[in-house]
Amino acid sequence: MYPLIRNRRLRSSNAIRHLVRETILTPSDFLVPLFVVEGRGIKEEIPSMPNYYRLSLDQLAKEAKELWHMGLCAVLLFVKVPENLKDNAGTEALNADGLMQRAIKTVKQACPEMLVMTDVALDPYSSYGHDGIVDKGRILNDETVEVLAEMSVSHAQAGADFVAPSDMMDGRILSIREALEEEGLVDTGIMSYSAKYASAFYGPFRDALDSAPVDMQHVPKNKNTYQMDAANRFEAIRETQQDIDEGADIVMVKPGLCYLDIVREIRNEVDVPVAVYQVSGEYAMLKAAAEKGWLDHDAVMMEQLIAIKRAGANIIASYFAKDAVALMG
Ligand code: PBG
Repeated sequence: MYPLIRNRRLRSSNAIRHLVRETILTPSDFLVPLFVVEGRGIKEEIPSMPNYYRLSLDQLAKEAKELWHMGLCAVLLFVKVPENLKDNAGTEALNADGLMQRAIKTVKQACPEMLVMTDVALDPYSSYGHDGIVDKGRILNDETVEVLAEMSVSHAQAGADFVAPSDMMDGRILSIREALEEEGLVDTGIMSYSAKYASAFYGPFRDALDSAPVDMQHVPKNKNTYQMDAANRFEAIRETQQDIDEGADIVMVKPGLCYLDIVREIRNEVDVPVAVYQVSGEYAMLKAAAEKGWLDHDAVMMEQLIAIKRAGANIIASYFAKDAVALMG
């Protein structure tokens, strides 16, 4: 013990700190979420997500190439659906020439080797802003799952490498896997949002896609009947294990920072890759504090990303991906 053992020896220079560092971020850790809109030449900043944009297809192609050159080789696509195309059943989601299907092709054309993942859920397509079909104040499970399975097939046929169901309906992974197999899409992977909590941190994302639950009679005001209760831990393991049994190739914990205990627990429990989604509200919080000069943006960003990886994330979906990689030099 002291004075023979001095822990500060391993911290005494940059070189030794580097040598003993346990967690190192690299560009290949990241999955980059991208928001796509109709139109041309559009790159509009999302008000609650400074320096993050909605992109029209031409801009999406440009962005994909830029990401690829930075070593960012995986994207997660979301679409903002025009209001007049929304309905309760999310019918537009199945349009083979819909915005998502065109976005997939656009990225693949611009960057053939880019890994393309797509969000699978009804909310951007739903006139009520829910991830499932609404019926008398309830969100229907099995009817929704049928649409999700068809939607997944449609994305895969358009060229998606992975589909990423973010809806939290029961049994959707098995139904999606079976639907993909039936169509011979055996190589399409599934990244399941398996432990997705009902979180207030999704606010800015819902601004970005204009996808918040609408304030209407007989429409639930929140997503608490399908997304998980923030208070629960065992349930996260159960959800994740079930999704793996149903055929998920990658599982996910979401949001990130407030749920790192869950990330560690799941990393210890399962033997498939674990993704963590550092969500829009986490991004917005740091941007706001940095704008006020209250936090050092880059330092806090890197500390948070390191914490997510240290907790056990094998993949980090983050709006900071580009900023972080730029900083890595
Ligand atoms: C849609 C979906 C959401 C997010 C990803 N997919 C919003 C929600 O569930 O309400 C949130 C992502 C973020 O906040 O960055 N099912």
